[in-house]
Amino acid sequence: MKSISEPHNKSNEQQHDDMSKFNILTYPDIFLSQPTQPLDNIDGKVQEMIDKMALTMYDAPGIGLAAIQVGWDKSVLIYDISPRDESRSLQVLINPKVITQEGEILSENEGCLSVPDFRADVKRAASITVEGHDRDGNPMKIDAEGILAIVLQHEIDHLNGTLFIERISSLKRQMYKRRVKKKLSAGSK
Ligand code: NI
Repeated sequence: MKSISEPHNKSNEQQHDDMSKFNILTYPDIFLSQPTQPLDNIDGKVQEMIDKMALTMYDAPGIGLAAIQVGWDKSVLIYDISPRDESRSLQVLINPKVITQEGEILSENEGCLSVPDFRADVKRAASITVEGHDRDGNPMKIDAEGILAIVLQHEIDHLNGTLFIERISSLKRQMYKRRVKKKLSAGSK
């Protein structure tokens, strides 16, 4: 998920190819609409992938990233909702399951690193309880509300192959899809 405020333009030095980061897949990449598989073995390779995901998310910058967005079809998500002026606090959630969800809030101006240049309001559950594992395999249970509840729902949606544009009005969705189509056909000429 994107940060609430948009970053200023990046300088050229930051735009060079960097092997320490992933490219983020964007709509309409069909990979993004595929459900992910549970991760059943947390090994060193997985730790490397998570570290690389974190660099990718912080660089974007975003406040959440699901493995599927970088082409890894496992049930892994990361997030960090700590304010910009505070130190980073990377959170990793493996094989998350939503146990309960209650109420409704409007997630205003939601954005996604895989849906560039678009934001929309999305109805989300006001509070959720999620169970999963941390990056060391320890069981976790998170009771979330507010921005954390929104981020978790957004990223868990990714793991189920759902983008936030599937949760907005069809009119707005069609508008966005038309825009992307136009852009893609202009680029292929
Ligand atoms: Ni997203």
